[in-house]
Amino acid sequence: MARVKLQEINKVYENGFHALHDINLDIDDGEFMVLVGPSGCAKSTMLRMVAGLESVSDGELSIGNTVCNDLAPKDRGIAMVFQNYALYPHMTAYENMAFGLETAKKPKEEIEKRVQEAAELLEITELLSRKPKQMSGGQRQRVALGRAMVRKPDVFLFDEPLSNLDAKLRVSMRMRISKLHQQLKSAGNPATMIYVTHDQVEAMTMGDRVCIMNKGHLMQVDTPMEVYNNPKNKFVAEFIGSPSMNMLFGQLQKRDDSLVFHIGSSDFVLPGDKQTQAALWEDRHVFLGIRPEHLELAEDGETNTLAATITAVEELGSEKFIHTHVYGHDVICKLMNNEKQLKAGDTCLLRLNMDKCHLFDESTEFNIFYNK
Ligand SMILES: Nc1ncnc2c1ncn2[C@@H]1O[C@H](COP(=O)(O)OP(=O)(O)O)[C@@H](O)[C@H]1O
Ligand SMILES: [Mg+2]
Repeated sequence: MARVKLQEINKVYENGFHALHDINLDIDDGEFMVLVGPSGCAKSTMLRMVAGLESVSDGELSIGNTVCNDLAPKDRGIAMVFQNYALYPHMTAYENMAFGLETAKKPKEEIEKRVQEAAELLEITELLSRKPKQMSGGQRQRVALGRAMVRKPDVFLFDEPLSNLDAKLRVSMRMRISKLHQQLKSAGNPATMIYVTHDQVEAMTMGDRVCIMNKGHLMQVDTPMEVYNNPKNKFVAEFIGSPSMNMLFGQLQKRDDSLVFHIGSSDFVLPGDKQTQAALWEDRHVFLGIRPEHLELAEDGETNTLAATITAVEELGSEKFIHTHVYGHDVICKLMNNEKQLKAGDTCLLRLNMDKCHLFDESTEFNIFYNK
């Protein structure tokens, strides 16, 4: 059993800096949890606390059924993989992987068996006699992963393990780690994995659930699709998704019987259910959020449209991104298989798919349509 539970966890560093605020997070046994957020939001702090490398200032941390606040790192059943591999340069890949087990006085045959098994799974059997400097970055990172695996930990902790690799290698290592999680589960030895990254693509593709953090606060914890489709607040909405969700600042106003989002000289009519949910915000300022894929080119005379000046066009083959400037906001529109020739300086008419829009309260930045 390796459920990891953080209850009312706070971290205040010795210099008085309050890095983590009242964190409540319950990670299931065998779950793949991604911690994601901008640099400096205290992801590493949180992971290092689970590892036992950083003390808990307040609150309770448990792994399995054991409260671990004061438990030594070696007694927690965890293994950690870092960004900089931290391999011993004078040891071969085999020796690096075996080292922890030797220190723990495991029998030689057991060590041999575990290293070979891990090497096979990671496809590094041919590299076992090489030293770190004779290997590429991706190979070193696989050895570092193998070194964690041979310890058969209940919990794997990853701190941005792929950020030193080039884009292509990152994709293949990302899939390898996800596959490892699956394989351990199918083999009946599920491992809990906590994976720290600032990369929202890794967060979206790897996690069973994603925990989004900002400035030491927990913003939202849910499945990748939920945080994408049902973001709790403006921060999550803008952090998850690439390019980011577009934001327009305007006011909700009543027109006849309808509630509209008003900006500049444009009105956008909210669909029926959204009108009910937003009724309390009539005459108040709000942010309207809409993803680039929920904008499309429109013809004159259509409703819910916006005239925009194109600032740049990015052609990516099957899709293109139209960057525009509207009422002081940068707005990006994603077009699929669109043949129309557009260029910077042109004007275009954009239609907002209002069924897909979000509204955020001006002061709390909470999503008015958030449902859970
Ligand atoms: N030992 C320390 N003493 C004081 N402040 C620290 C210490 N370690 C980290 N911090 C601060 O805590 C915040 C979170 O750091 P960190 O957990 O490394 O963030 P992340 O991993 O999300 O980039 C940062 O503002 C950082 O400067
Ligand atoms: Mg970090």
